[in-house]
Amino acid sequence: MSETPLLDIMEALREVPSRVSMGSTGRITDMTKYHSIHGNSIIDIDSFWLDVTNSMITWRKAPTIGLKGSFGDVSNRPLSWFEDGTLNVTESCLDSNLKTRAEKTAILWEGDEPGETRRISYSELLELVCRAANALKSLGVEKGDRVIIYMGMVPEAAVAMLACARIGAVHSVVFGGFSAESLRDRVIDCDAKLVITQDEGMRGGKKIPLKEVCDEALDGDSSVKGVLVYRRTGGPVNWNPVRDVWWHDFVPLQPSECHPKECNAEDPLFILYTSGSTGKPKGLVHTCGGYITYTSYTHATVFDIREDDVYACVADVGWITGHSYIVYGPLANGATTLMFESIPTYPDAGRYWEVVARHGVTIFYTAPTAIRALAAAGDRFVSVHDRSTLRVLGTVGEPINPEAWNWYYDVVGEGRCNVVDTWWQTETGGICISPIAQATPTIGGSATLPLPGIVPQLNDSEGREITGEGEGLLCIKYPWPGQARTVWRDHSRFVSTYFGHFPGLYFTGDGCKRDKRGYLWITGRIDDVINVSGHRMGTAEFESVLVSHSAVSEAGVVGFPHPIKGSGVYAYVVTQPSEEWNQDLSEELNLLCRKRIGAHAKIDLFQHIPGLPKTRSGKVMRRILRKVAEGEMDSLGDISTLADPSVVGAIKDGAKKILYQSD
Ligand code: PRX
Repeated sequence: MSETPLLDIMEALREVPSRVSMGSTGRITDMTKYHSIHGNSIIDIDSFWLDVTNSMITWRKAPTIGLKGSFGDVSNRPLSWFEDGTLNVTESCLDSNLKTRAEKTAILWEGDEPGETRRISYSELLELVCRAANALKSLGVEKGDRVIIYMGMVPEAAVAMLACARIGAVHSVVFGGFSAESLRDRVIDCDAKLVITQDEGMRGGKKIPLKEVCDEALDGDSSVKGVLVYRRTGGPVNWNPVRDVWWHDFVPLQPSECHPKECNAEDPLFILYTSGSTGKPKGLVHTCGGYITYTSYTHATVFDIREDDVYACVADVGWITGHSYIVYGPLANGATTLMFESIPTYPDAGRYWEVVARHGVTIFYTAPTAIRALAAAGDRFVSVHDRSTLRVLGTVGEPINPEAWNWYYDVVGEGRCNVVDTWWQTETGGICISPIAQATPTIGGSATLPLPGIVPQLNDSEGREITGEGEGLLCIKYPWPGQARTVWRDHSRFVSTYFGHFPGLYFTGDGCKRDKRGYLWITGRIDDVINVSGHRMGTAEFESVLVSHSAVSEAGVVGFPHPIKGSGVYAYVVTQPSEEWNQDLSEELNLLCRKRIGAHAKIDLFQHIPGLPKTRSGKVMRRILRKVAEGEMDSLGDISTLADPSVVGAIKDGAKKILYQSD
């Protein structure tokens, strides 16, 4: 273990006892400091990030090289950060905290039933991770092997992630709502050696049959040599004695120490699958050194982390928010991080605030969709619980409308908490655009300004830069350490998806406005990705399920504005000539989506149409489908290139009945 960073941290902790050490750049406490640090971070990117990483992260061999490569050259050479450095990220998350925080709660678990809690200290967590890491080794997992984690929100999910990291294995967490088919696709794509799952998950009083889905996913030939099963509920499970191993039989017997595997900064830490515009979800690869640097820096900066914080991010570890801001960022900063197993409305719409009161939560981070649903349930669910400990409130995953922002600020935060609307993506690894608590003046609905190291650029669709006030496509100009390096075994897809639109720029897929003070307002996806309740889904995934049904000949799926979910899913379906359209068929199609994609994949509105609006060359004019679903029937633009313009009238008439049913 390198001595210097630890000494730096200790030194800095003595000076500012309640804060995490941030390197010579220091904390951002006001806008003057923000502008100066942001400016410096761009003038000398390498020095900035080397300074941050060497003061925040525990390296075995401290890096001296910052960035190698550029956006313009990504097809020839994947970007790399800190490539002469070696580390094991678990030393930053666990070992480095033992000196001053051994007994501090690392993971505070709130189970599905209110009051069902576990507190795991940093020393206990290290021991759990070491035993699990040794278990993985005994099961034949080696550095570089892929391990799928298909679990609910139990501490062992975080333990499993860190255990992989401890031995240099690459984890790929699959959200527990995904179906057997989606799980199988991911197992096959990453060629997983082992799966870690649990008997059942618990959410809102309901059991989720994780092991059963896993069995179905692994049915037949598979690369998977073993399944490690954590017992959560004790419910019945099928058992394959050749393949399955109980966590409680095996892990506790393992040695309590596990030497951390020394990894290169650019070794993969994890693969996380995410939906895009086309095709199957892609496995984004995040690497050790840059990712841990970026998540710990942004977590400390945006949330203004202090030593005695009780930090609660109520996302799921199956998504990037859980990776970056429940597990890696907070643990690297020695924070107490809360893991929440339940849902916001169980047993009632006051659950979050009851948790805040009982655990004295100081920082709370959730998605706009939950805020909208809870606001609709009424203020009384909030006001009965003491929220006086809250200091910072965060949101992520979709644009937050000013009404929801104001409710969060006024009602939940009683007008005294900083609200941070954090914009980022699975690809970015960590927060890129956000207010900094205590420093940035906020306006409801705006993600405000870029964090240090990030330079946004707005382009028009022709690739011309929009400067000053205006609206365009959100791109980022320079690399930052936390961004995904590639798509697992498909670098050309990575290059074409993110760098194929505007050479030399990272294209986010989002639209964005810049106001006259320079604040950024994310307007949402401009491609065929929909954020439904903060869950990212590809319209192509729905379409391929729909057309697989024998009654369907063609389908077009788009998003539409939904008052609670942000976006809902709207499916236009063309049936086979011999088939009737009816309610039963729409239910059948939704069941099929659930089975093939997952429990969270639900089509909200179906419209039966005579044909898709296609150009004479056969290309579907998706713009028409989008506009109609958004209720903007009168601004469809030029439709003269359609092969059969009459379908537009039929689509509009049908949509009016669906969208304005209640009128
Ligand atoms: O459209 C943006 C939206 O979520 C997308 C990324 O989704 P995902 O990779 O699943 O990551 C979600 C958690 C980081 C973005 O392209 N998004 C995320 N945060 C915001 C947002 N849209 C508006 N405002 C945000 N704060």
